[in-house]
Amino acid sequence: MPLVDVEVLDIQRMSSGDHELDRVLGGGVVPGGVVLLGGEPGIGKSTLMLQAVLNMAAASPRVLYVGGEESPEQVRMRAERLGHVPPNLFILAETNVQEILKELEKNRPTAVVIDSVQTLYLPEIESAPGSVSQIRESASALTRFAKQHHVPLFFIGHITKEGSLAGPKVLEHMVDVVLQFEGERHHAYRMLRAIKNRFGTTAELGLYEMQGTGLQAVDHPSDALLGQKSGEDGLSGTAISAAVEGVRPMLVEVQALVSTAVYGTPQRSGTGFDLRRLNMLLAVLEKRCGFKLASKDVFLNMAGGLRIQDPALDLAVVAAILSSALDVPLPWGTVFAGEVGLTGEIRPVPRLTQRISEASRMGMKRLFHSAHARNVKAPEGSSLELIPVQQVSDLHGRLF
Ligand code: TYD
Ligand code: MG
Repeated sequence: MPLVDVEVLDIQRMSSGDHELDRVLGGGVVPGGVVLLGGEPGIGKSTLMLQAVLNMAAASPRVLYVGGEESPEQVRMRAERLGHVPPNLFILAETNVQEILKELEKNRPTAVVIDSVQTLYLPEIESAPGSVSQIRESASALTRFAKQHHVPLFFIGHITKEGSLAGPKVLEHMVDVVLQFEGERHHAYRMLRAIKNRFGTTAELGLYEMQGTGLQAVDHPSDALLGQKSGEDGLSGTAISAAVEGVRPMLVEVQALVSTAVYGTPQRSGTGFDLRRLNMLLAVLEKRCGFKLASKDVFLNMAGGLRIQDPALDLAVVAAILSSALDVPLPWGTVFAGEVGLTGEIRPVPRLTQRISEASRMGMKRLFHSAHARNVKAPEGSSLELIPVQQVSDLHGRLF
């Protein structure tokens, strides 16, 4: 068939009642769309999906939550905490896929959540629940149902710290959307990103804060992630980065602590930042700035416990390390956005205009960026000073 003759149907999306989730999904829940939500145990996957079904039940006639991990009583208790429990939200405590399918055929729910894919099993397969073959066959049987009856289906899957979706990873090619829920368990902030999305972009990012009453959307990340309060110089070792995650600009505070190593081998640790990247930046500082860091412990922290992957953080990381090593605080309102190369050159980063706007919106005073960046200008009426830097050594000279 000529491709042009294929009829394009308008996708009727349904809101999940959570605008962050809707955005990451590409504008809402798609009928027959199968979503895999991955994340470490305890990060809040069940909470996120329970909130979504509570909301969806308001607009959808019959929503089903299949729970193989917690008892219906536990789910009910948690649901009470999260909001009003509507009468058309159903729970099924079952892990046998054949039984689940029977219920689905009989009751035809309009949306289904499976918590979690690791608990599912098909009796005809011999391996234990959670094994690759059980996960694959169970999920594909349920996926067939979803596609046939145009029912949106969500699978929750646990992944380990190293990011391997050991079991659920085998589902990635099978589902339409793969979402990842991340954050540090002992911090309140959580990020929701799409790793794959057949119905939209993977550039969107959802941001939440875990509170006593569930997950609340964070509308203005910069307000939340800036530890420093306006007007006051911070302590030495803190620097602010104008980062972009997905398409969302956010100002993030980076904290570094450089101290003389007490024990033989100096320690390097990074929370929310890639350790190899940190070691690389330390090597650049040593080689290009003549900073003696080999005998120092270096600790690095991202405020809020978020794992931000933007390379533009480099410049703020370097500034924070220099500030801590010299014990000189940076003046209030200083923001950084630049990638650092192996030769110590500061490289331009994408979406600089957005970063500048965000820094300006937050009332920052000056932003350091790569001298190679083009079309750099502050928004009209803004007093943000834009400072180009060529090399890490220039940055050192300009700051201290
Ligand atoms: P949970 O959704 O059970 O995580 P997962 O399904 O990913 O394993 O939630 C994990 C934690 O969230 C739980 O230990 C307690 C916390 N939490 C809150 O802080 N506030 C709340 O309102 C809820 C429901 C949970
Ligand atoms: Mg759970």
